[in-house]
Amino acid sequence: MVFIRSATRKKIILFLLALCALVLLFLNTFSCDSGPQYYMVPKERTKYVYGIDKKAIPYDKFMPLIFVGGMPRSGTTLMRALLDAHPEIRCGEETRIIPRILGMRTQWERSPTEKKRLSEAGITSEVMDSAVQNFILEIIAKHGIAAKHLCNKDPFTLKSTIYLSNLFPNAKFVFMIRDGRAVVNSIITRKVTISGFDLKNPRKCLQRWNQAVDLMYSQCVRVGPTRCLPVYYEQLVLHPEVWMHRILNFLDIPWNASVLHHQDYVGKPGGISLSRTEKSTDQVIKPVNLEALSKWVGHFPEDVVKDMAAIAPMLQVLGYDPNANPPDYGTPDEQVRDNTLHIQKNLNFWRQRERDIFDKNPLNKTKTGSKKS
Ligand SMILES: *[C@@H]1O[C@H](CO)[C@@H](O)[C@H](O)[C@H]1NC(C)=O
Ligand SMILES: *[C@@H]1O[C@H](CO)[C@@H](O)[C@H](O)[C@H]1NC(C)=O
Repeated sequence: MVFIRSATRKKIILFLLALCALVLLFLNTFSCDSGPQYYMVPKERTKYVYGIDKKAIPYDKFMPLIFVGGMPRSGTTLMRALLDAHPEIRCGEETRIIPRILGMRTQWERSPTEKKRLSEAGITSEVMDSAVQNFILEIIAKHGIAAKHLCNKDPFTLKSTIYLSNLFPNAKFVFMIRDGRAVVNSIITRKVTISGFDLKNPRKCLQRWNQAVDLMYSQCVRVGPTRCLPVYYEQLVLHPEVWMHRILNFLDIPWNASVLHHQDYVGKPGGISLSRTEKSTDQVIKPVNLEALSKWVGHFPEDVVKDMAAIAPMLQVLGYDPNANPPDYGTPDEQVRDNTLHIQKNLNFWRQRERDIFDKNPLNKTKTGSKKS
């Protein structure tokens, strides 16, 4: 500045003033006639969940949420228990209302008359998406303790993989796949009520399985291998170590051996919280084992067995031989074989363990399946 003479300085100031005037004129012409613009901005800018140690972890739609799903009775509960055992992951009980809000969201769009009425009222797709997104996020964040990685397991959410992948741009999906014959047999013998499933009609149940898995599989393929990982229940059970490495890799979460001993974390603070109303609870308290793999053999009527390939074409698409009863699922790891033998030899021990977890533990739940406090 010292080297600039005062005349030059005046010129510079005049030039800047002229520039300012021009800018103001420009702004006036193009924006003042529309008046001031307001936007609704949420007051609470950062949201938190609190851990057992009272540390706050912020959460938002950009966090790397994990969605575990698939047909019920396909190992979704086992998957969530294995992930829940990891110190950085919380994968709690089924929320039940997340798939319902997704179903309602679909309904709102389905009828053209209703859609027109909604859009007349200013309820556009964007408004609904933002509301549904916040609903899902709040439920996931607050129905359990805080953790670096939050995970949701409600089997049927994976019918909305594409939609969820848009709502949550960094979410990943673990799609549990299991031999449809084992799934249907389990649904029937355990009397699992699923809308659309007639438990007296195995043929129709297999068709329903086919339809649902087809829908979920095609969405999983559509979002691609970086977002959705198909996991075969049989392979997970036969080779848990290989598969848990693969799954944690896919989720970008560091390895921790606790995922191989999930049964040690059941009912512990910060461990695995179970709901008595979830149908698989009695199974996931045990170490990974082979008890459930081929139980279905011999339980289907002959005519259904004969038509299997036509009734459930997805069996073949997914690599299950529809004409083998049972197909060769593979050879288990040694540890898994040992677990299975141990469970078979100590049935009473495991029955007692089940009672202990729910009746004697301070973390036991009410019949309605409330959450760990
Ligand atoms: C695994 O988690 C436990 C806590 O559950 C922790 O003490 C241990 O250091 C972790 N191991 C690795 C390799 O991160
Ligand atoms: C937990 O178990 C104890 C002992 O059986 C029982 O007295 C108590 O009512 C149970 N608590 C809940 C919340 O179910």
